[in-house]
Amino acid sequence: MNFLSTGMPVCARLDTTRRTLVLASFADRLPCVVYCGSRLGDDEDLAALSRAAVRPIANSTLDRAVELSICPEEGRGFQGHPGLRAFDAAGRPLMTQFRLSSLERQGDALVVEAVDAQCGLTYRARFATHPDTEVIEVEADLTADREAVRVDWLSTPVVPAPASATDFIEFAGRWTQEFGLRRVPFTRGAHLRESRRGRMGHDHFPAFVVPDAGCTDTLGEAIALHFGFSGVHRMVAEETAEGLRQLQAGVAEPAMLEPGETLSSECGFLAFSDEGLNGLMHALHDHVRRHVVRFPDPARPRPVHYNCWEAVYFDHDLDTLKELADRAAAIGAERFVLDDGWFGSAGQGRDDDTTSLGDWYVDPRKYPDGLGPLIDHVETLGMRFGLWVEPEMVSPDSALARAHPDWIIQPEGRVQLPRRSQQVLDLTNADVADYLFERLDALLSQYSIDYLKWDMNRDLTLAVDREGNGLLRRQGKAVHALIDRVRAAHPGVEIESCASGGARIDYEILKRTHRVWLSDSNDAHERARMQHEAMLFLPPEIVGSHVGPRRCHTSGRVLAMPFRAGVAMAAHMGFEMDLRELEPDEEATLKRYTRFYKENRTWMHAGRQHRLEPACAERLAHMSVAADRAHFLAFVATLATIRDESAPPIRLSGLDPDAHYRVTLWNRDEINASSHRRFAMPIADPDGLVLSGRALMKSGVTLPMGFPDTMWIVQGTRTEGR
Ligand code: DGJ
Repeated sequence: MNFLSTGMPVCARLDTTRRTLVLASFADRLPCVVYCGSRLGDDEDLAALSRAAVRPIANSTLDRAVELSICPEEGRGFQGHPGLRAFDAAGRPLMTQFRLSSLERQGDALVVEAVDAQCGLTYRARFATHPDTEVIEVEADLTADREAVRVDWLSTPVVPAPASATDFIEFAGRWTQEFGLRRVPFTRGAHLRESRRGRMGHDHFPAFVVPDAGCTDTLGEAIALHFGFSGVHRMVAEETAEGLRQLQAGVAEPAMLEPGETLSSECGFLAFSDEGLNGLMHALHDHVRRHVVRFPDPARPRPVHYNCWEAVYFDHDLDTLKELADRAAAIGAERFVLDDGWFGSAGQGRDDDTTSLGDWYVDPRKYPDGLGPLIDHVETLGMRFGLWVEPEMVSPDSALARAHPDWIIQPEGRVQLPRRSQQVLDLTNADVADYLFERLDALLSQYSIDYLKWDMNRDLTLAVDREGNGLLRRQGKAVHALIDRVRAAHPGVEIESCASGGARIDYEILKRTHRVWLSDSNDAHERARMQHEAMLFLPPEIVGSHVGPRRCHTSGRVLAMPFRAGVAMAAHMGFEMDLRELEPDEEATLKRYTRFYKENRTWMHAGRQHRLEPACAERLAHMSVAADRAHFLAFVATLATIRDESAPPIRLSGLDPDAHYRVTLWNRDEINASSHRRFAMPIADPDGLVLSGRALMKSGVTLPMGFPDTMWIVQGTRTEGR
């Protein structure tokens, strides 16, 4: 069909309950996203909407305004970062000019198909949603119809960023500093973030958030794009000379397509909000809960963990571990996780981080009767048992590496730098995958294990196979396939995605795992910030957070128990310390917070999170509101000395404006007389105060000042009377 003859665009729309996305194709070119935002009326004239967006042609430019299509093409004159970069077998660039062959609704998806017969390529794009989500999953694929093609770049379908936004948000961190949120001004040119580490890296959670001008946590418009396949990802935010702004995401590794083969961009997750960043977060959390994370037993509350890593490291001694288990259970732990150090081969065990990865056999020196006695002990205490593994890795000093040196990713004639004295196994080799499956399957079959902490402690470098072909994408898929295989054989087992802390977190890994280890920092001061930023994309029930040692092992900071426990209970709570260091008062506090976590976790983990604007730079605050808005907990952390002589009231969010709530300070016993002078503070009264949801959201409540590294927990319950 020649759409040029009609002069009218071909349009299609995709609606969620509250949002609309409109695609329009002019003159049979690839369509553009001409609208994504609040839901349009059913009678909206899509052609008029699309034509209203056609840009003027400036002097000294091409004779037609170049559009920002879902795959901006160099062959159509697009001079920014193209959506596709492909070459023929002779290395000649393929200057595509795709022609639309169909744009149609297929169930809950909009599907685009376009062909470039001259280049021998078919391009497809899919914008898919579900009836119960506000998130749109976006994916493109490319088929080599005739000849072999090399694809250097294939973006997820391109979405425009609002022209009125002044900046966008991205994440940049390092080990123990994950999810460092930063704002980048939108200026002309491309901002590119990439990881070719085989894992996301601590440095870059693959997402952009574009808050429109004036957007805050609670008000205004914003869009977010998260790329679900981390570790070999590239994300681009660009403003072109025409003022077009685009967001791209894709796999940062070239691929060869043989005739008939198809390559996917992998999946991006797109969310919109007209209720500030919190609106984005709600859409993303709902989507994760309904369509990403699948708990083996969704009705089971998130159990309190005890992890022995920062208590014993590699020094495993059965009696010590049993004593730690006793103490953990007495405080309220429900799952005991045995971390690194339990395995080895005949004559060699994992006594430090230089050996034994790959030898996934219980170390008989440490566990002469296997793991059975420890697991029995743990279960007698009423806890379940979890085990640490790092399947993708191998120590050169291990029986496995000695037997199968060719299983290691190690290109001929090149030096592969170790990291933490370890190398990576080539999981695309079926023998490797079979060996790892056999080992994991044997452990899970022999022992009563309901949880794996699946770690991954080094980046991939020189990631090519023995023939020199790029491995990053294939290794990523092979890891997913191995986890899927383990899960299919042991569907009751939950898995945590850990990578030296939070270096592997994305929605694709979360489709097959149930918890992320956000960071190796158990420093509640650092963690409060990380949890606050990560919350935009991750609901609290999947974010592991442990009460660490009094003196934090990664920062040296000394923090009081209430603060450590308060930060942990706002996510998926656990303890990770030598519990023998606890003073009686610390133990009593930890018990109290653990009990409080258990009393509230069911509704918190199904409710809405709201980031709050504490109007005071030294504070970070958020609240959990039950789905029926009948109760809430607000967590208000003070991270530094408050510079002003007083702290402003904090305005709450997400409440029923017409309901009344009794509001109390749950931890009022922590008010320290020296942080300010005594005065009659209504919220510190045991009966608290009663206010409407509207008043709490518009006017707020004033809290005591609080020393640095303390947290107020404000509890609210809907009440009939005043
Ligand atoms: C890195 C993890 O993030 C830690 O929690 C711990 O499991 C160690 N690896 C064990 O080697």
